[in-house]
Amino acid sequence: MSHEHFRKEVDESGGGSILRRYSSPVVSAKTSVSMKYELKNLATGKVAELNALSGTLGPDALDISHLVRDLGVFTYDPGFMATASTESKITYIDGDAGVLLYRGYPVEQLAAQSSFLEVANLLIHGSLPTNAQLREFQTSITRHTMVNEHLLRFFQGFHHNAHPMAMVSAVVASMAAFYHDTMDTHDPRHREIFAHRIIAKLPTIAAAAYKHTLGQPFIYPRNDLSYCANMLNMFFAVPCEAYAIDPVAAQAIELLFILHADHEQNASTSTVRLAGSTGANPYAAISAGVSALWGPAHGGANEAVLDMLDTIGSAANIGKFLARVKDKSDSVRLMGFGHRVYKNFDPRAKIIRAMCYRVLDKLGIGNDPLFELALILEEIALKDDYFVSRKLYPNVDFYSGIIYSALGIPRSMFTVLFAIARTAGWVAHWQEMASDPHMRIGRPRQLYAGPRQRDYQPIAGRLA
Ligand code: ACO
Repeated sequence: MSHEHFRKEVDESGGGSILRRYSSPVVSAKTSVSMKYELKNLATGKVAELNALSGTLGPDALDISHLVRDLGVFTYDPGFMATASTESKITYIDGDAGVLLYRGYPVEQLAAQSSFLEVANLLIHGSLPTNAQLREFQTSITRHTMVNEHLLRFFQGFHHNAHPMAMVSAVVASMAAFYHDTMDTHDPRHREIFAHRIIAKLPTIAAAAYKHTLGQPFIYPRNDLSYCANMLNMFFAVPCEAYAIDPVAAQAIELLFILHADHEQNASTSTVRLAGSTGANPYAAISAGVSALWGPAHGGANEAVLDMLDTIGSAANIGKFLARVKDKSDSVRLMGFGHRVYKNFDPRAKIIRAMCYRVLDKLGIGNDPLFELALILEEIALKDDYFVSRKLYPNVDFYSGIIYSALGIPRSMFTVLFAIARTAGWVAHWQEMASDPHMRIGRPRQLYAGPRQRDYQPIAGRLA
């Protein structure tokens, strides 16, 4: 960015305030200050100077932390449309260009060459591991895959048709009861053990939730298998016969997990950070993330996409369906489309669509009717002015459910698989936050619009 002097009036509209931008020398700090802005109360003439903080990539962020002190006002930004909640070194997204980097590495390169556990290690530690480091990490994850037998008994308390996300969220929260006294969030070794435990045990807990819905015995983890192959084995093996893991399936899961591993300050990751910022037990914070992920506007979209494709039924009904989507009085949305950050193709969706062709072909179901319907739906939507003008493109979830479905994973488990993969990102963000000596509790402010102070009325004197 150029540092020549310039001044820009951002808001000259009457009553409010003026925001001006000035250049200033770059200072060496954790995040450097590249510009200064001035925010002026036009009524009083009082001015606050705001630093624009520059990261390594992406737009600057105005430091407003002194605004209350200087001008006595809060900022208002429902849904965090323009607010950075933290500084982070983990993941970068350029939504206009459709770029996603984990620790600087393009997700396309990692998807083509890496493994899920290598990516998890990268997200947590910040650089690609050496052979020895990766082996040590894999061994530690493998050794932590079993869960306490008492924890497994919790599943007996759930009805057989409980949604697996509800069970997984509850059982992960219960891990806090098993690892409470032994968890000091200020101790780096404790944080590391937590990271390995939760990444290792999530597939075991997910598989137990699935087996519970089927009424089948739990299958214990096998340490001779890779992370993803072990998960498939715990899902699909039964004690009475041998189960052969399909390498196509294990490879597809590996790739999907890499693509889902992190996505900077998304709703569930921000939830993990917020819960964790109170000093809460990190297993409880991860459980909060699982719950936040479940919503259809977030990770629940993969399940909702297939329900939507079922509802549409055939290509002949797409027009009718899209008319409902575009009708503002109707709450129907095109699931798997749109994103808060991407205003271009989600790079993950492109990879997953290409993977759909490969996986379905290898499984001998290349003409899967749901995939064909999804392709036609995408093509029609991308030519429709409603979606074009709003820059709505397929997101990561538009095609992921089709692959999971082809691999025999039931719909209610799609978001659980997303949660297993995203645990790597949640852990990396929790670690980044918990190891920051300047960490503060996350506590947003509000614009209060309720009644002014008033006096209590005895019940006899109240009007209906
Ligand atoms: N179908 C129809 N219209 C849409 C869609 C959609 N999928 N997504 C956005 N829009 C429209 C909105 O109605 C709005 O139109 P308007 O300007 O006329 O009011 C405009 O596009 C902007 O949308 P917002 O809802 O304001 O965008 P926001 O950033 O708040 O929401 C979200 C992003 C939640 C992902 C949204 O696009 C959506 O609901 N998509 C469908 C659900 C989905 O696929 N979620 C998964 C996201 S990826 C992930 O979390 C893993």
